[in-house]
Amino acid sequence: MADTNYPLDLLRLDKSSAEPLHLQIRNGLRAMILDGRLKSRTRVPSIRNLARTLQVSRNTVVSAIDQLVAEGYLESRPGAGCWVTDTHALSSVGIRARAGGSMPSLSTRGDLMSRQALIQGQPHQAAFHPGVPETESFPFKVWGRILKRKSASSGDDLFGYHTIAGLYDLRVAIAEYLTVSRGLNCVADQIVPTTGAQAALDFLARMLIDEQDAVMMENPGFLGARSAFLAAGARLVELPVDECGWHPVQRPPNHPKLIYLTPSCQHPLGMTMPLEQRLEILEIARRDEAWIIEDDYDGEYNFFGDPVPAMQGLVEDAPVIYVGTFSKVLFPSLRIGYAVVPPDLAKKARAVLSFTGQHPSLVLQATLAEFMSAGHFSRHLNRMRRLYARRRKAFLEFCDTYVSEWLKPLDERTGIQIACKAVVPMDDLGIAAQAADRGLSLVPLSYYGLAGSAKSGFVMGYAAVPEDKMEEAFKTLRSVLSGEV
Ligand SMILES: Cc1ncc(COP(=O)(O)O)c(C=O)c1O
Repeated sequence: MADTNYPLDLLRLDKSSAEPLHLQIRNGLRAMILDGRLKSRTRVPSIRNLARTLQVSRNTVVSAIDQLVAEGYLESRPGAGCWVTDTHALSSVGIRARAGGSMPSLSTRGDLMSRQALIQGQPHQAAFHPGVPETESFPFKVWGRILKRKSASSGDDLFGYHTIAGLYDLRVAIAEYLTVSRGLNCVADQIVPTTGAQAALDFLARMLIDEQDAVMMENPGFLGARSAFLAAGARLVELPVDECGWHPVQRPPNHPKLIYLTPSCQHPLGMTMPLEQRLEILEIARRDEAWIIEDDYDGEYNFFGDPVPAMQGLVEDAPVIYVGTFSKVLFPSLRIGYAVVPPDLAKKARAVLSFTGQHPSLVLQATLAEFMSAGHFSRHLNRMRRLYARRRKAFLEFCDTYVSEWLKPLDERTGIQIACKAVVPMDDLGIAAQAADRGLSLVPLSYYGLAGSAKSGFVMGYAAVPEDKMEEAFKTLRSVLSGEV
């Protein structure tokens, strides 16, 4: 795994806070420098770009940056921008100790988790941030009407501590949807609603993994799953993936306790796992008595034919736990996802989940249940499929016109993001930092690999970029890749 030298998207501002924005920016950047997330010599985006990305005035950014320069955290050269000061120099003059104070230490797990690479978007997302759906077309009026009704009436009894198991109506709606659209073999009792797929991965890891258990994990693979398994004490065993598919090691040196897969839309490369490989991995899982977690975060969008049915429904009694989310089909901040567990595990799963507190708000569950049962969900999904098909086509055409000398899209069939492989040697982290200065959000492909196996390129979202803005964004990307300033 390559180092994170591009974490400025972690800077969070709270505009409702009494703390002035320039202090929030200064404190945020200072904390990232001190804890090493922002490495020495990292270039800071331009004032213009920071102001635009953070949605603040240039004066606010200038004031924060000036202060950090004055305090010695940043160096600036006229006309050349700003860099993070050499951090050895910082510690040698004792700035670290003064700013951080002495705090009790984190647990090994907490420290490990806090150091994992984190990819998060910003409000008013810049072009090509991956994994974000278009929200402008969401039927907010309909949603708002249902939400208002559900929040206003105590008749449904949505306001207590009960129903941590998940609202029955929502579990029924999800089970029906998954049976019809995703080919699952499940009933409402097996659905465990969570606050998103990440929460499902976290509670499943805690429930299924012991210290030093082997977890077979796709490489390149989803960073959120990696962190959840590492935090549970797992030893990660690589499951190599490339454009040609998954290459499971037939006789891994240690039996895996769990195999994590994104078979409908490999994260981040985008391929769909062929049937023979699904059956092969199911066979390995049965032989080694391993669980499979099938993370189907983005399988609803398939642009060549119907979505491929899930592994969970492929064979009777498969040891598969299916994980899904509404983040990509509705919107990410809804924070509703779910696990579909085998019937024998359902009661224990609910008990474990209740101690993690990662169950979604009942009011939101009730709103979503009605949104689904009244047909709004499937209508929205169909509309978005058509919209994304158009945007995907535009993305591939612009990609060919403007950046084909550097990047080749892995034009696979599914998902709301596209992995683009570098076709020439490329420092993708450096290019992503330069692109961020120009208002683009590219996630380097080399982020996603386990140590030593990183590939170069970018994962690029297209779903939330209207076609007219997309062409401009590609022109900007071309000028970054060709080294024009
Ligand atoms: C592969 C994969 N799994 C799970 C998630 C988490 O989704 P959620 O927003 O439901 O936590 C994501 C988010 O992008 C993802 O890419």
